[in-house]
Amino acid sequence: MLEFTDVETSRLRLRRFKDTDLAAFLEYRNDPEVARYQSWEGISEAEAWAFLREQRDLQPGVPGVGMQIAIEHKESGELLGDCYFKLEAEEPRQAELGYSLARAYQGYGFASEAVTAWLSYAFRTFDLHRVIAITDCENSASVTLLERLGMRREGHFIQNIWFKGKWGDEYLYAILREEWERLHG
Ligand SMILES: CC(C)(COP(=O)(O)OP(=O)(O)OC[C@H]1O[C@@H](n2cnc3c(N)ncnc32)[C@H](O)[C@@H]1OP(=O)(O)O)[C@@H](O)C(=O)NCCC(=O)NCCS
Repeated sequence: MLEFTDVETSRLRLRRFKDTDLAAFLEYRNDPEVARYQSWEGISEAEAWAFLREQRDLQPGVPGVGMQIAIEHKESGELLGDCYFKLEAEEPRQAELGYSLARAYQGYGFASEAVTAWLSYAFRTFDLHRVIAITDCENSASVTLLERLGMRREGHFIQNIWFKGKWGDEYLYAILREEWERLHG
């Protein structure tokens, strides 16, 4: 099994979650603005500990098992947020991506920097063919990020999800390996 290796960018370190992330993780996971378009509403301290324990034992690249990768600011050591990454159980050359940043760290290009680095690493390391991301159509920051990454809107689902008390619409974005390499080297 592949051991987790940190991925570094000029400002960031993508690494495994650790116990000292608890406070920062609890804070952004319980921020209603961060949760607004996510499947979750918030998290208790016990649930956050369980999450950290679970993450400690995961390795990336196990088909069907989603992993959350911590995004750390190298200079300050602060936890800024995380990337979600899962290889499809049935077809592990396809993967799904997700991301969250604490509110204070949005608007600095950190998500773009983290996701670009992670996808470049993941396309190579897991021999991926295609990566997808699904976003609420109203989540304009997420739509902008996916388009900035060069992902293509392939689907627009209308009221396909019962989401926080109402039917929601979602976009499906995707990018193929050769497209990623053309755009990001
Ligand atoms: C989706 C999300 C990660 C996007 O974060 P973000 O900070 O807007 O995304 P980026 O990293 O691409 O940053 C882009 C912004 O940083 C600015 N920026 C500042 N310095 C920059 C730099 N060095 N490089 C690039 N952009 C920079 C850009 O101008 C842009 O600002 P704007 O949105 O005002 O135009 C964030 O909104 C979030 O965590 N939301 C809550 C969780 C969520 O909904 N996740 C998605 C579920 S599908």
